[in-house]
This record gives sequence, structure tokens and C-alpha cells, in this order.
Amino acid sequence: GRVAVLLGGDSAEREVSLQSGAAVLSALQSQGIDAFALDTAKADWQLQLSGINRVFNALHGRGGEDGLIQGLLDSLKIPYTGSGVLGSALGMDKLRCKMIWRQLDLPTPDWQEIVIDRQNFSTLEKQLEKMPLPVMIKPYCEGSSVGMSPVFNAVELKPALELAAKYTDHLLAESYIKGGEYTVSILGGRALPSVHMETPNKFYDYDAKYLANDTEYYCPGLDLETERLLGDIALRAFKAVGCSGWGRVDFMRDSQGNFWLLEVNTIPGMTSHSLVPMAAKSIGLDFPMLVKVILAATLT
Ligand code: DAL
Ligand code: MG
Repeated sequence: GRVAVLLGGDSAEREVSLQSGAAVLSALQSQGIDAFALDTAKADWQLQLSGINRVFNALHGRGGEDGLIQGLLDSLKIPYTGSGVLGSALGMDKLRCKMIWRQLDLPTPDWQEIVIDRQNFSTLEKQLEKMPLPVMIKPYCEGSSVGMSPVFNAVELKPALELAAKYTDHLLAESYIKGGEYTVSILGGRALPSVHMETPNKFYDYDAKYLANDTEYYCPGLDLETERLLGDIALRAFKAVGCSGWGRVDFMRDSQGNFWLLEVNTIPGMTSHSLVPMAAKSIGLDFPMLVKVILAATLT
């Protein structure tokens, strides 16, 4: 049957989604699958869903990764890739993920929720007085590090809050873990080998993810025993917030070697240089095969 690849959309991650979607589309077409691209930022895109048998969802961020489209597709009885409504909605919400993980004793850095009073940024800085620096300031429903900044000293706080406030009224100040960044890809209910990222930037930010050519990747990122430990935490964290199918769980590793959960991604980047494709390749699954495996899960 026909497959619609949903891409684009109007979230802050539109550009990334256009890249993911284009890569997915050409992988499907190269395998003889009848697929076409459908940009959900276009007027009346929903009308084009009639006659569609399945959806490969390559949208990132609000509207596409947060349960909204998933609910629409459920109502229309069109099977789609990735997590359902609940896992998508929770997965997009870094704050609620952390609340659930903490409750289950899964390791996630301390945090404080911040609700913006747009008239008065100085009260915001006050809200954070008890939170020891450094912290990461994040909008809690964005992806690709959009709107995030590390704050090492008090003068950096106001610009960090102002940047994050461009995206949402709900922010997260998360205790900054100094150390290495790791990510675990999930495919078919299994954890794949981790990827370890190293960047000369302050953290693995938008630039390091998509623009810079000096980010280094190691896969597998760890020895076998540690891979098993990390994969287990990743799977538990993924399931705890209702996610299923495929996705990616991001971590920091501190200088003592402990891992800390940052977030889950229910529709991780699928450009040719993205992390899930890298992990899949390490177990012998090339990009077209990976795309086919993700799509095949819609049949079960
Ligand atoms: N949110 C981006 C696309 C990722 O997690 O890969
Ligand atoms: Mg994310």
C-alpha cells in the first residue's frame, strides 16, 4: 500500500525534519516502496491522508512528535511508526519524564521548574537562587537543543532565560552534569550500542548536531559490560514514559562514571549522519534496512 512520509511541519525543528524526511523517503523509494512526502505545514495536508495505508512519521518537535498527529492518525485508523499518543506526549515533555524517572529511582539530574512571568525576569532569577550553578536552562518541550544554554555564573542566567522564553513559558533549570554525552538508540524493543559524542562546543548543541564538522562520534561508546548497564537503564526509562517501537535516550556520564538521564526522543533525527542510523550501522543494519525495520513495526 501507499506510505506517506510526514515531514516538515511548523515546529522549531522544521529544517531537521525536512532532512530526516527526505532521507527516509529516498530509502523507501530505493526499495520499491510506494511512498511520497507530505509536509504538515501545508494547508489541507490532512486531505491527502485518504488512500494512505501507513505513515512513516519523520516530524520532529511540537505538533508531530508530541501526540497531536498520533491522535489524529489513531482516529483515522492509519498505522504509523513510533510511539503512540501517551508515549509521544510524555516523551516531548522533559519535566514530566524527569518526575516519572525520579519516582522510579532512575537517575536524572536535579531540576527546578520555572514558569515565566513575562513582565518580570528578575523574579525568575530569584526563583533560581536556591539552585546551585552550573545549570542547563531548557524549554521543556523542544528538541535538537533549541533554546538551551548552560549557565556557569550568575550573569549568564538572564540571557539564558530570555532565550528559552522565546519558545515557551515553561522552563527547566537542570543541574549541569560535567562529563561525556552518550545516547542509546532503541529499535524493536532492544537497545542498540551507544554512541558517545565529543564536541569542542560547550555541549552537543544545535551547531554540533547539524552544522559543525568537528563533532566526533564513537560507536559503540563503551565496553561491553557498561553497554549492557546503560542499555538497561535506557530501555527502562523509555518504557516508563510509555514509549514504544523506536527512539533514542540521551545521557550524561559524570566523572565518577555514573550515567544521568536527560531525555527521550520518540522521533530521533534520521539524516544520514544522525545517531540512530550510526548505531544501527554498528550492528550491520544500513540506512535503507533501518527505515524498513521501523516501518515494518506498523504491521504488528
Ligand atoms: N530532536 C532531534 C531530531 C533528535 O533527537 O535527533
Ligand atoms: Mg530531544
